Amino acid sequence: MKHIQFAFNTSFTNLDTLILPINDKGEIISLENILPQQSALNELSKSLAKSGDFSGKVGKTLLLVKPADIEIQRVLLVGFGANDKLTTKGYLTSIQAAADALDHCGATHIANAAIFAKPAAESIKWAVTQNAQIFQRSFYDYSHESRGSHPVKDPRVESMVFPCEDYTAATQQGQATALGMALTQELANMPSNFCTPTFLAETAIQLGQDFDFDIKILERKEMIEMGMGSFMSVAQGGDTPPKMICLSYNGGDASQAPVALVGKGVTFDTGGISLKPGASMDEMKYDMGGAATVLGVFKALGELKPKINVVGVIPSTENMPSGSAVKPGDVVTSLSGQTIEVLNTDAEGRLILCDALTYTQQTFKPSKIIDMATLTGACIVALGHHVSAIMGNNQPLVDALTTAGQTTYDRFWQLPMGEEWDEQLKSNFADMANIGGRTAGSITAAQFLARFVQDVDWAHLDIAGTAWVTGDNKGATGRPVPALVEYLLTEAKA
Ligand code: BES
Ligand code: MN
Ligand code: ZN
Repeated sequence: MKHIQFAFNTSFTNLDTLILPINDKGEIISLENILPQQSALNELSKSLAKSGDFSGKVGKTLLLVKPADIEIQRVLLVGFGANDKLTTKGYLTSIQAAADALDHCGATHIANAAIFAKPAAESIKWAVTQNAQIFQRSFYDYSHESRGSHPVKDPRVESMVFPCEDYTAATQQGQATALGMALTQELANMPSNFCTPTFLAETAIQLGQDFDFDIKILERKEMIEMGMGSFMSVAQGGDTPPKMICLSYNGGDASQAPVALVGKGVTFDTGGISLKPGASMDEMKYDMGGAATVLGVFKALGELKPKINVVGVIPSTENMPSGSAVKPGDVVTSLSGQTIEVLNTDAEGRLILCDALTYTQQTFKPSKIIDMATLTGACIVALGHHVSAIMGNNQPLVDALTTAGQTTYDRFWQLPMGEEWDEQLKSNFADMANIGGRTAGSITAAQFLARFVQDVDWAHLDIAGTAWVTGDNKGATGRPVPALVEYLLTEAKA
């Protein structure tokens, strides 16, 4: 993906495009007289509001080419609505609209004054990060060769100048986040006949070469020998080789225990013998969204090189029905030694994650574990598509992630945990069942995982509702890469 050159400058030379923030009265927002011909631009914009040509509402844009008496080639008016009513969501909607508008015009060198329209509660630095992320990510277009003759985006934008003091760390964070999200989106959008566990492993190996990460891949045979009976019970129904993919980024002190990111990598979830219904089953190619997030975050870490140690662990397999598939009622022994009665083969995410959690603790001795998974349909019923669910055993960790999610508008909402829900996992034939009945499905899934977490701070992110969008714009979102990058950068500074 082409990289935008970001810079900071108030001299406004060598530009062909100006992004200008406008309120619902047609006035330029919050700009001390820093622009060339600012009062002429203000008059022009106000006259367009009067004539009904531009409302200045949130999400509206109007591109002016060679406006009379204005020297700059192109001015993009971007609406932010009433000055005091702008929300964070509204601000980001308008920036996205600006990025969409620039997608199909000749703009190459841009000055972006829309940072000044930020909501009152946010800082200019925050606005710079968000603008860098949104404009860079607008270059992403699903481009796998199997897309066929669809024309792939060929963006013209080359540079963007913010007319404010130097916030280079902010543009770097925004841009690295966008590059990470693009990788996450591309992997998740790829169909499962291309995006296999082997392909995810190759992607990790490539990242390792690009950024000097240590990579280790475990194969089926060793994992069976090691005793990952739970993960292997999911993988036994498929012919595609499963992988445990491990990445290590060592940016911190050698003595510092790493933060572990564990991502569910089910490259296709048919449900197994507990087969899913046919409608929308194609979307179960997205069941590796947690894995794709781990890889996207590692891409961003490679770009940013923060002072922190991070390991990524990805259990990856298909979940297939076949003559060798695990059957309802089968009992399997996890790597931890605990036995599991598989009452529903479609609750496979927790079966692969539990062994990954045990392996992560044994191998990497992390200070914290954050797992992410498209784990439960119940999560979508509870919270919809706007926030991911978060649960955990350590409130400060949950709070820190929640704050990072708020800052990046890649939000989490906490659900409770406790022994009442844990009891729902009771089995007459094993240490536990892999499902907890009809109620509180997201919580009982987390309770299952919690049984495999020993004496380490742990948070679980259920991203079933947020990793992709359905409908006409079906596609991966790249979430929750922004929140995790923000969290890790904050942690690196602590
Ligand atoms: N990958 C699914 C969860 C899912 C479903 C995510 C739909 C996004 C959209 C997971 O493996 C699954 O099938 N979970 C079951 C659990 C149930 C059997 C306890 C579910 O949610 O139905
Ligand atoms: Mn499933
Ligand atoms: Zn699944």
